[in-house]
Amino acid sequence: NQIGLIGVPTDVGAGVRGACLGPEALRIAGLAKALTGLGHKVSDLGDLDGPPNPDEQPGNGCRNLREVSTWCRLLRDRVTDVAGQGMTPVVLGGDHCIAMGSIAGIAKHCSASGQPLYVLWFDAHTDFNTPLSSPSGNVHGMPIAALCGRIKDSEFDLGVPTPVVDPSRINLFGIRSVDHIEKATLVDSGLKVFDMRAIDERSTFTIMREILDEVTAAKGHLHVSLDVDFLDPSIAPGVGTTVPGGVTYREAHLCMEMIAESGLMGSLDLVELNPLLDEKNKSAELLVDLTGSLFGKATLHR
Ligand code: ARG
Ligand code: MN
Ligand code: MN
Ligand code: MN
Repeated sequence: NQIGLIGVPTDVGAGVRGACLGPEALRIAGLAKALTGLGHKVSDLGDLDGPPNPDEQPGNGCRNLREVSTWCRLLRDRVTDVAGQGMTPVVLGGDHCIAMGSIAGIAKHCSASGQPLYVLWFDAHTDFNTPLSSPSGNVHGMPIAALCGRIKDSEFDLGVPTPVVDPSRINLFGIRSVDHIEKATLVDSGLKVFDMRAIDERSTFTIMREILDEVTAAKGHLHVSLDVDFLDPSIAPGVGTTVPGGVTYREAHLCMEMIAESGLMGSLDLVELNPLLDEKNKSAELLVDLTGSLFGKATLHR
């Protein structure tokens, strides 16, 4: 099966600029080569051409909302198209607001093929703010709320029925930063939130097993959305919203290896990489490594 790389060079959803350089940094770190080396066919479909960043101050609780909306709709249509051609879409971000687009696009594909859609969201944050609760106005802190149908605003309307994903089918892994109001709204959200404490107590292996077994039983399509800040900042400094106490190098690879072994992943976002904050592209190189594990690289034959 073929992999389609889709570059989404934007940072309209972020507060710190630079994630618009992410797709090129991932290419320079050797993403396509790493995947072809594993025996996959890879088509780099180039970058989407969306609006520039007006770098506005937030109005009505959101920064650059019109541009966010345009990028997301472009990506939605591209992802539906690429998946429809039988390729696995791999989205190179770009800040995390674009996951609204990629997930809406894959949701369309899944509803056509009758497969239940599951999301595995690797992140330090729950990204469950709304324009009313957000302390920053940055839309990359809102995609989960939007996908759950919690934001009633035409710019957040992705043209697919809400919830775009059933909240009980969204697993958030690596969480260690939740804002005050966001925390209160999580309680009755139905989301499956695995924070760092749960990971420490129960282990990466146990939690990942539980998540993947459920998707296997449902014969689901698994969309993986990987925010660089899910990783500990000591191994991945190239992101605008680092939070200490993140997932280690081996824990991260274990997650990816278990996903690969499950055979469940049908689409992927690599988001929030900010090369301007990186050290000699090391975060991009780590992302390439992790993507290798996601697509089947293992130490031994199994
Ligand atoms: N919770 C904070 C906010 O809403 C940070 C969100 C960070 N999100 C991200 N995708 N990096 O502003
Ligand atoms: Mn399919
Ligand atoms: Mn994050
Ligand atoms: Mn995020």
